[in-house]
Amino acid sequence: MKEDGGSAEFRRKMNGGVMKAEIIVDKNYIIGDVDRKIYGSFIEHLGRAVYEGIYQPGQKTADEQGFRQDVIDLIRELKVPIVRYPGGNFVSNYHWEDGIGPRELRKKRMEIAWNVVETNEFGLDEFASWAKKADTEVMMAVNLGTGTISDALNLIDYCNIEKGTYYSDLRIKNGYKEPHNIRTWCLGNEMDGPWQTGHKTAYEYGRLASEVGRAMKAVDPEIKLVACGSSSSSMPTFASWEAEVLDLCYDEADFLSLHQYYRNDDNDAADFLARNMEMDAFIASVVSICDYVKAKKRSKKTMMLSFDEWNVWYHSNGIPFDRWSEHPHQLEDIYNLEDALLVGSLLITLLKHADRVKMACLAQLVNVIAPIMTSDTGAWRQTIFYPFLHASLYGNGTVLNTLSRVPVYDSKNFTDVPYLDAVMVLNEEQEEAVIFAVNKNTEEAMEISADLRQFAGWKVAEHIELTGDDLKAVNTEADPFRVCPELNLNTKLEDGKLTGLLKKQSWNVIRLKK
Ligand code: AHR
Repeated sequence: MKEDGGSAEFRRKMNGGVMKAEIIVDKNYIIGDVDRKIYGSFIEHLGRAVYEGIYQPGQKTADEQGFRQDVIDLIRELKVPIVRYPGGNFVSNYHWEDGIGPRELRKKRMEIAWNVVETNEFGLDEFASWAKKADTEVMMAVNLGTGTISDALNLIDYCNIEKGTYYSDLRIKNGYKEPHNIRTWCLGNEMDGPWQTGHKTAYEYGRLASEVGRAMKAVDPEIKLVACGSSSSSMPTFASWEAEVLDLCYDEADFLSLHQYYRNDDNDAADFLARNMEMDAFIASVVSICDYVKAKKRSKKTMMLSFDEWNVWYHSNGIPFDRWSEHPHQLEDIYNLEDALLVGSLLITLLKHADRVKMACLAQLVNVIAPIMTSDTGAWRQTIFYPFLHASLYGNGTVLNTLSRVPVYDSKNFTDVPYLDAVMVLNEEQEEAVIFAVNKNTEEAMEISADLRQFAGWKVAEHIELTGDDLKAVNTEADPFRVCPELNLNTKLEDGKLTGLLKKQSWNVIRLKK
């Protein structure tokens, strides 16, 4: 553990084994407004995300369309504003017309992204209906792996045109009188990845994205388009991919995507919990590249970022499944407390970039690397459900530039890792504010303080914490509340000073109210 947290004045102060940290904010010093779309998520045709996840006809909570109500209830609890669909790697060889029309006529297909059989029992019309019931918006990805400009045009015609064209009339014939009116579209998925069906060079992809984007906007000029950035910051083409792709499709794109998953293969908590520093550096680099292209093009448009795949993903790697079977168990990571802490820190990092990250998707939503798990008999919340829930419920308004004076440590891959991640979000309309904080110290609690004299007359409404002695504790169907939030009653805001104790290895939500 490093003893020096920066300037001499704020060196680590030990006091009876308690680490101290100060949170510094000024309500006039803001980063930006939170776009609620950063609390988006993702449903791919993969494993049991669709089948047995959101759709399971005959299951005891399923409605007349086969949508599981127990899952819808949990998604509504999370207040997910937007859900990306239908992939992911899946989309790069997906023929959307396979998934519309009478079910008995739909073709089964070899699904080569995940080596399974896709029954096509569930398709885009079902997803659009489900999204309404789940109170969320659809973010639709088009196939730019094997797909063509025509496929994308036909798809947007089917989805967004009211009537009077072949595809809009086909939608009406299929029972969907109203257009789906999808506002946000991804131009392919991870096209930089050699694993992607129809993988492309930056030049090939950038040209295609530009042509498809221009044609789609000709059909519906109001749509927003997301161009593919790198599928992780460790890709060998990272940075040059972004620069070249944007050079070719800057005018058509409204967002550039980022994807990244985090792992703890070495079972090294200190290093794993520092991984949000990697996310922070990734976002900062992509912002710089976007602004470089903006300057080069003398453009007035500022490119926004869509971090549309992020999560912890490694627990399920290597678990065998039956190849060419229908919706087997795949990517079913069982998340522990440690994962929830990192997810909390990743959410704090996204918030700290609220000026440029205007959309993000926790990947994914149900069963597949997901906060929600299902069996035939029920649905339950994984540990990572909670930080996501708290951020979605309370992380709304304006993000304040939040500094922390706090001790730091070095880990295998990172130096000067602050023991505390914290961010404050002010919701002036609701006259409330929240501080999200993660104490990464797995040995000691942390005393925090903040000068909040600008918030005279405000009180601590509640301090919610997610913690426990066992970093590896998980929730299961048999024991669904082993890791769940509790209240910390000792945090105070008195005479303009906030004081409290963050337990070791804890996610904290300190809600303040006028
Ligand atoms: O979310 C799982 C997979 O991760 C997605 O299909 C792909 O886009 C990414 O590599």
